[in-house]
Parts: sequence; C-alpha cells; structure tokens
Amino acid sequence: MLRLLQLVRSCWMVAAAPATPRERVSLNAGWRFSRFTSNPDSLSYDKLKQWVLPSANDFISGTKRQPPSGTPPGTDVSYVKDSFDDSAWEQVNLPHDWAVKGPFNAPGIGGGMGRLPSNGVGWYRRKVTVASSDIEAGKSIFLDIDGAMSYAAVWLNGNLVGGWPYGYNSFRLDLTQYAKSGDNTLAIRVDNALDSSRWYPGAGLYRNIWLVKVDPTHVGQYGTYITTPSVSAQSATVDLVVEVENKRNGSRKVDVVTEIFAYDPASGKATGNVVATFPKSTITVAAGTKLSVNSSTTVLNPQLWGPAPSQKPNLYIAVTTLSSDGASAAIDVYETRFGIRTVVYDATKGVLVNGQRSYIQGTCNHHDLGSLGAAFNVRAAERQLQMLQEMGSNAIRTSHNPPAPEILDIADHLGMLVLDEIFDCWNTQKTKNDYHLIFPDWHEPDLRSFIRRDRNHPSVIAWSVGNEIGEQSSAAGGATTKELRDIARSEDPTRGVTVAMNSAGPNTQMASVVDIIGLNYQGEGLGTSTSGSFSSFRSKFPNKMIWSSESSSVLSTRGTYIFPVTSGNSATVGGASAGGNNSALQVSSYELYAPSWGSSPDKVFTAQDKNSYVAGEYVWTGWDYIGEPTPYDSARSSYFGIIDMAGFKKDRFYLYQSRWRPDLPSAHILPHWTWPDRVGQVTPVHVFSSASEAELFVNDKSQGRLKRGQYEYRFRWDNVTYQPGDLKVVTYKNGVEWATSTTRTVGDATKLNITSDTTIISGDTLAFVSVAVVDKNGDIVPRASNSVTFKIDGPGTIVSTDNGNPADMTAFPSTTRKVFSGLVLAIVRANAGASGEITVSASADGLTGAQVMLQTS
Ligand SMILES: *[C@@H]1O[C@H](CO)[C@@H](O)[C@H](O)[C@H]1NC(C)=O
Ligand SMILES: *[C@@H]1O[C@H](CO)[C@@H](O)[C@H](O)[C@H]1NC(C)=O
Ligand SMILES: *[C@@H]1O[C@H](CO)[C@@H](O)[C@H](O)[C@H]1NC(C)=O
Ligand SMILES: *[C@@H]1O[C@H](CO)[C@@H](O)[C@H](O)[C@H]1NC(C)=O
Ligand SMILES: *[C@@H]1O[C@H](CO)[C@@H](O)[C@H](O)[C@H]1NC(C)=O
Repeated sequence: MLRLLQLVRSCWMVAAAPATPRERVSLNAGWRFSRFTSNPDSLSYDKLKQWVLPSANDFISGTKRQPPSGTPPGTDVSYVKDSFDDSAWEQVNLPHDWAVKGPFNAPGIGGGMGRLPSNGVGWYRRKVTVASSDIEAGKSIFLDIDGAMSYAAVWLNGNLVGGWPYGYNSFRLDLTQYAKSGDNTLAIRVDNALDSSRWYPGAGLYRNIWLVKVDPTHVGQYGTYITTPSVSAQSATVDLVVEVENKRNGSRKVDVVTEIFAYDPASGKATGNVVATFPKSTITVAAGTKLSVNSSTTVLNPQLWGPAPSQKPNLYIAVTTLSSDGASAAIDVYETRFGIRTVVYDATKGVLVNGQRSYIQGTCNHHDLGSLGAAFNVRAAERQLQMLQEMGSNAIRTSHNPPAPEILDIADHLGMLVLDEIFDCWNTQKTKNDYHLIFPDWHEPDLRSFIRRDRNHPSVIAWSVGNEIGEQSSAAGGATTKELRDIARSEDPTRGVTVAMNSAGPNTQMASVVDIIGLNYQGEGLGTSTSGSFSSFRSKFPNKMIWSSESSSVLSTRGTYIFPVTSGNSATVGGASAGGNNSALQVSSYELYAPSWGSSPDKVFTAQDKNSYVAGEYVWTGWDYIGEPTPYDSARSSYFGIIDMAGFKKDRFYLYQSRWRPDLPSAHILPHWTWPDRVGQVTPVHVFSSASEAELFVNDKSQGRLKRGQYEYRFRWDNVTYQPGDLKVVTYKNGVEWATSTTRTVGDATKLNITSDTTIISGDTLAFVSVAVVDKNGDIVPRASNSVTFKIDGPGTIVSTDNGNPADMTAFPSTTRKVFSGLVLAIVRANAGASGEITVSASADGLTGAQVMLQTS
C-alpha cells in the first residue's frame, strides 16, 4: 500500500527535479481565502466572459477568440491588488474545499447537492516568487490548475490573465507577460451558483495547482501523444506526436529526440537501458507558433499493460528532449508515461485487452472523497480504488465529469480500466445553473482539453461524452452526439465514443452515432420489469458492443435490516414493508431494494447472463458519495454505494465479490444475529458466496442444504426462526467444502477496538483509523450507536470523521461522532514538516477506550 503511494507521488516529482530544465512547482501551500455569500465585487461570468473565452484558444478548431480592447473587468477590485491586506482572511492549503466543513442544512442547498454551503464567491490569494534568473532567461511561466470549482478567473499582479468555467476540467494559463522578478500577487476568483449540480460539487481550489517554468521553446501543454497501433508478443509499434511550442519572438530550429525506458513502479522513475529510440527530428518552429512532429519506433518483446489480476499493468516512460542550435544542453525534457496495449470492442465477446476478454466488472463513482469532500487526496483516492479491486472490480466510470488527473495515474498503476466521462448535460438543463448555460461556448474546448490530457493513459478504454442527456432521443441530441463524437475522434481516433443512455431507444440517432452502446438501467429493465432493452439494441446493432454504463442503483445503509423481507429478487423501496425506514432514513441491507428505475444486483446479473454478448456493467455506485440521498431527500449523502462513505463495506460488497472473484472461497452471512426483540420470529438469512451449495445451521440445527440454480446469485433461507446463538454456513463447490462462516449473537458493548490502515504517515498521506464497539469477545455490537470522541497527541490532525450514516448531520470535522452500526472512522493527517509519534485515542462513556500509535517523519 505504502509502496504504491510512493510511486504515485514520486512520479510527479520527476518533472520538478532540478536536473531538468523544466520546473514544475506545487503552489498548494500558503493561500489566504475568503468566501462571500453575496457578491462582493460585482463581477460575474457574464462580465468576465469575453476575457476568459480566449483561455480556450488551444482547444478550438475555428477562429481564435480575441479579448476585447480596453480595461478588463476586475482591475479595480481590491482583492486582485498587491496592496490589499488579506491578513484577516483564512489561511488555507490546497487542495481546499470550502464547503465540506459544513455545517449541514446550508440555506438554499437541498439534499441533492449534499446540504453543504458550496455556493457563493470565493477569493484565493497568495504570493508567487519568481527568481530573477527565470525572468532574465525569458522563461515561459504557466499556471496549471487541475480543477477549480467553478467559473475560475485569475489575476496576476492586478492583471486579468484568463479563466475556465467548467469546475472539473484542468486548464493552463500563461502568466509570462505579467510575471516579474520577486514576489507576484496571484488572485483567483471562483463563483458557485445555487442549483448548479445534481450532486455535491465541492467548492474552491479543490485540486492541485502548479507553476511550470520552462524555456520559451518547449513541449506544449499535453504536448505528446503516444499510440500503439500494432502489438504482438514479439514487438510493438509505438507512434509518437510531439508538439513543440515556440513562444520566442524569433523562429527556432529544434532537435527532438525521444527515448523509451521501462517504468519502475517502486521508484516511480525510468529504469534500465533505453528500450527504443524514436528517430531524431529537426524542425523549425516559427515565432509564436506550434509545430508537431510525428515519429514511430518499435519496442521488442514489449511488456504489455493490462487489467489486474489476469494481466499486469506494465508501464513505460518516453523521455522527450528538445535541444537547439547544436548546444549540448537540453532546452526541455518532458516525460510521458504510457502503456503498450490494444483494446478491441467486440460486439459478441466484449472488451478485449491484448486479445483477452476483460468482462467489465465496474463501478461508477463521483469525485468526492467522503468526509474529505471534493478536496483531492491521492491516498484517499487510491484507497477507494484498492477496495474496489479487492472486491474484484476491474473498471471505473468517472461519472459524470473529468476526474482529478491523479485518478488516472492510480488506475494505470493498479491496472484498472477507465470509462472516462466528461458531461452530465448538453444544451438541455438538469438543474437551473448547470453546464447547459455554457455548453455552446465551452463543449468543444472542454472536450478537446479533456481528451488531450487523458489520452496517454493506458487505463482509459473509451470516452463517454454524456450521461442521461435530456435531448438523448431527439434529432438535435443526435446532431450533438455526432459533433462530440467527431471532436473526440479528431483528438483520439484510437478509442470509442459512447453516451450513457437511460431512455434513448435503438431507433434514435444517438444510438446510431455512438461507437459503443452504453445503457443505463434500461438493458436490465427498469424497476421490477424484466423486459430489458439489450436484445432490441442487439438486433438493431449486431456489430456494436453493448455494456451497462450504469446498473442496479440498489440502496442500503450498512448494518440495517428491516422486516419483512421481500420474497422477490428485486423490489422498489418504500416504507417498512418495502425495505425502508422512513423515520430513521435507512434502507434495508438485504440488498434487494432499489428506486423506481433500479434493480437488485441479482436481477442485473440475470439480465447480463441471459444476454452474454453484453460486455459487463458499471454499477451505480462503488462508493457512497455526498448528495443525491435517494430515497430520503432530507439526508445528506447517498445510499447507492457498495461501500459506505466512511469506507466500511456493506453486505453487497460480498455479493459482487462472490461473482467477480469466483475463485476466492467466500461465505458472507446476513443479517447480524443479535435480535433480542425477534426471538421466535421469522428472520431471513441470506448468504453471498462463490460456492455452488450451502447448508445453514442455527445452533447446529440444519436449516437445509441449498444448491444454487441457474440465475441465482445468493443462497436464501427465508423461513429461519430467530434464536440467539450461532448462525453457521458451510458451503461447497464441486461437492468439496469451500468456505464456512459463523455469526454469533453478541453480548453487551464493553470496549472500543481501534485499527489504522497504516502506522506511518507523512506529507499528504493519511491514516484511516476505524473504531468498532465490541463485546467482551471482541465481536462488533451490530446496533451500537455510542458517541465516540477522538483525541490526538503529537504532530497530527484529525481532518474529519464519518460513520457511513447518510442521515448523520454532524459536521465532518467534528471529533465526536456517533458510531453507526458498530463502526466509526477518523481520518488523520500529519502536520506539515513535523516528525515524531502521533497517538490517536478514542473514548466513549461506559466503555474501555482504545488508542493507536502512528509515526510521522
Ligand atoms: C519578445 O518581444 C517583446 C517586445 O519586444 C519582449 O517584451 C519580450 O520579452 C520578448 N520575448 C521573448 C521571449 O524574447
Ligand atoms: C501525425 O499523427 C497524428 C495523430 O496520430 C495524425 O493525426 C497526423 O495525421 C500525423 N501526421 C503526419 C504528417 O503523419
Ligand atoms: C426505524 O428506525 C427507528 C430508529 O432507529 C427504530 O426505532 C425503528 O424500530 C425502525 N423501524 C423499523 C421498521 O425498522
Ligand atoms: C416459507 O415461507 C413462505 C412465505 O412465508 C411460505 O410460503 C413457505 O411455505 C415457507 N416454507 C416452509 C418450508 O416453511
Ligand atoms: C480489533 O483490532 C484489531 C487490531 O487492530 C484488528 O485486527 C481486529 O480486526 C479488530 N476487530 C474488530 C472487530 O474490529
């Protein structure tokens, strides 16, 4: 775990190493911040727009946009000026999400957006020091923002530089003309409307920000593009495009040399000898222009990239060196990590990576990281993907927006496939202030920059240009699909384009235009309907691959069981007789209850297996997320996750694991077996297992041995009478004992039990510290709801706490939180620059407390 983390981090360090003439410096530290709930400066996107539009000029194919003449807006706003005294503003480091600390029930923000105060105008300011040597050398100085929520506008030393409205996209601004030697004042304004999203968007400078200093003649932004058009075990053709940008006043003759090395996951660096070299190109780049050069080389005996666990995620690094005028010193060195692999979308066999079938065992995930909010953190994101992988998942869909760029690094490293998605709406709104307002001006540059950023990642297997688009069935929607598809193809002809369609039928133009048919829910059939649309799409498009771009949407809260339990294999959630607790805002964890459009995992599996040409599914969702608390709008976070927001596994985790890891012996029993109020009552027992037969025992008395029939994915004994004691399952595969499991009736809570996922933290890494309320035998007390207080000693900070309860309105930073179904989590960070021992302790009234020691260096 730790090793992986280091490699993710060190690979960013490569570009910042002083040995290269290119410097990439983090600007995350030392900001001053202020949020205003009413407009403090009379600026708005409408006023700034004409000056912001030209920031997208590298990503539009038509006439470049020119800023108007005259003084740009904001020049007279005090916050942009060096003279402004910001000492009263809050000190923050990035990534920063101003809304996540709460409190909940923010005015004007409903459950959909997570009830947190994400609206308003935020101003961020900091000093940026530029060495006089950089100014004298005429270096180009760029600001790279991985994501700013939203409508960012940037001033340097009082000058409006540009901006980017779409909060999820990454963008670059050229600071060179306004930068000076010594201290520079950087001021960034972001602006979030109410009703701007269907889920929690986060707020502010919530991803990493970088300063890039490089020779004015350099590899351009996203300036390399690597493809592997032919791959065999013996050799691979690697095609490379390098785009050289020349910001000098005169033309420049440049030698472009690129060498390929193996990538070493342990060090995050190139390793060993040169594996292959691209032929040297010499080009003359005119002043103020860009020029691309193509070349091709062959890698012998390539180590292919492929999804784990059946294949290995091997990576390479291409190191591009620019030199000029015969000088030996490089003027730029630029590294591109890539993988050698092929992807084929086969209408019958599904996704083939390097010729091997990779059945999509995927999940959809939103961008937030639970109680950390939208503020990006590599370790938190890595933890999310690692737990999904443990479940047997091999794919994620970045629903419904560009992810933090590091997510794709992690997916490359872990060997997970990515359906990279950009938009949730086009011209038709879903909420009043969503992206439809800027779609006409921004869809082209957003799509081009997104693809250029992400197209070298071997993990990315397809582009999704939309989710459940309002105009999906209309001719206008079809025309937009074609436009977006053609833009995507022009940026990357190697990958297919899809749209996630929840209602567009086989006869729509949208369906005929996309390369891959992506079906949300309709494939398996909405709700309890079993007449899904797979076969009608299949007969209309026999040569197109079909997958469930979104499936299931089943709802549950961890550890909650509500009786009676439906006898069907999928049901629509309702009140107590239909899996819901409308007063506690909880949904039963028998994993059978879904909203009107959704289906149990079992029903989805059945539909997938009956239509074996379907390439797999992306389940809604892998992790719970802030906002969209269907079916209880007054809650604050979702019920869809297979894993709850704190990172505790719901029962469903084991249902997917039993299907996706059939070779892993497993037997997971539900519900828990501590029901003092149910003695003598029928209490259904379900078991998720990769076995083919199972026998259940209550206090050693058999409840019957069951054989799993075709289209059955769980063992269920629905007539078990509850008696306290031991509930035991013994499972068999091919007649041989496979896995067993026992759940005991537990006694009174006596103590807290603490566990940390790591004992060493530093820098941006985190420790995820879990506390369980246990009885004298150490068994979790399943319905415990004690209030736990966390305390920290030493150079660390408790960033947030959570318990996975979507209805818990205690603000995330609170160090006191109720246990939910026996468990509670604290997220701990080491203080910057400190070293030593950190003790995290947990206490609760009437129980023996617990503590864990962490080390930071
Ligand atoms: C280009 O010329 C302008 C105007 O003479 C000057 O200010 C600028 O520093 C020059 N840029 C470079 C990179 O030489
Ligand atoms: C260079 O490669 C790009 C991307 O593959 C392609 O679009 C372009 O046509 C190539 N140019 C030349 C001159 O081969
Ligand atoms: C709903 O939740 C409340 C509070 O936890 C509980 O008292 C009640 O028994 C629950 N109702 C059902 C039907 O489970
Ligand atoms: C189990 O319960 C169902 C529904 O309550 C009932 O129809 C069935 O007869 C019961 N089966 C046995 C073996 O008791
Ligand atoms: C209790 O803590 C120990 C040590 O961290 C851990 O191995 C064990 O799984 C924990 N038990 C429970 C029930 O959480």
